[in-house]
Amino acid sequence: MAAPRHFLQFNDLEREEFEYLFERTRWIKQKFKSYQQYWPLSDRTLVMIFEKASTRTRLSFEAGIQQLGGSAIYLNTRDSQLGRGEPVEDAAQVISRMSDIVMIRTFEQEIIKRFAGHSRVPVINGLTNEYHPCQILADIYTWIEHRGPIKGKTVAWVGDSNNVCNTWLQAAEVFDFNVHVSTPPGYEVEAERAGLYGTDHFEEFTDPMDAARDADLVTTDVWTSMGFEAENEERMRDFADWQVDADMMKVARPDALFMHCLPAHRGEEVAAEVIDGPHSVVWDEAENRLHTQKALMEFLLLGKVALK
Ligand code: CP
Ligand code: NVA
Repeated sequence: MAAPRHFLQFNDLEREEFEYLFERTRWIKQKFKSYQQYWPLSDRTLVMIFEKASTRTRLSFEAGIQQLGGSAIYLNTRDSQLGRGEPVEDAAQVISRMSDIVMIRTFEQEIIKRFAGHSRVPVINGLTNEYHPCQILADIYTWIEHRGPIKGKTVAWVGDSNNVCNTWLQAAEVFDFNVHVSTPPGYEVEAERAGLYGTDHFEEFTDPMDAARDADLVTTDVWTSMGFEAENEERMRDFADWQVDADMMKVARPDALFMHCLPAHRGEEVAAEVIDGPHSVVWDEAENRLHTQKALMEFLLLGKVALK
């Protein structure tokens, strides 16, 4: 049996494979928008394992596999043996004998790596403490839809150097664009944790306005990610000056886009006038989770299919 391909972090796929996925996404999205049935994954079962909450990831994977003709099974730690200490390796053996593809949202990246190491079927990272590759897949597709190629562009990341930030940094290496990061002191990017090969594609700025200056895309995320709730009060204080507001968008390029993976907290990491304003593409971004992940599941299960 050939080893399955996984999508555990962004750089698990090559640039040329992403380019294929984006072409495929365009085709799959157009089919969906015109109500044309497309069932390449009929009889295939996706197992979705959630150790953290989700709206978009669950919805987009569950709707996505159904729209491709397959079905989804939802498991969480509360009412499965996963929450009662069954080793990840054992769970992977069993789950991957009864399904065709697995998506996991969990805590440490190590957990998903261990699962994938014992899985017979492709495993997709639906968010870990370190990465959120499906999010950036959708974000870059959204950029391309609105503005074309991302190569050479500047993305400003303002806020926490979290899983979404780390994934933007990996994507910058794959697609050759730049990320200007501004975090409060003590929350800087940890290059090793971000899984970076070098520092050529990112620059850190003390002042968030400097990170946003002349950026093509400004993006942020919650100040407190899932799993870090105990730090919430301290983070509210530390991040108070790292809100993306209208003044910050003014120093970016006039046609800059604003993205946020959602859920958002208006008045914390982003002002309502920005997320609900003219630069914002957050609803397209959320919708594209569906279309890009359908292309991803098709690719991991069927390989490259002839582009129609
Ligand atoms: N952006 C994202 O992953 O959203 P959910 O937490 O709702 O899945
Ligand atoms: N950084 C956030 C993303 C939520 C989609 C978290 O991990 O909670």
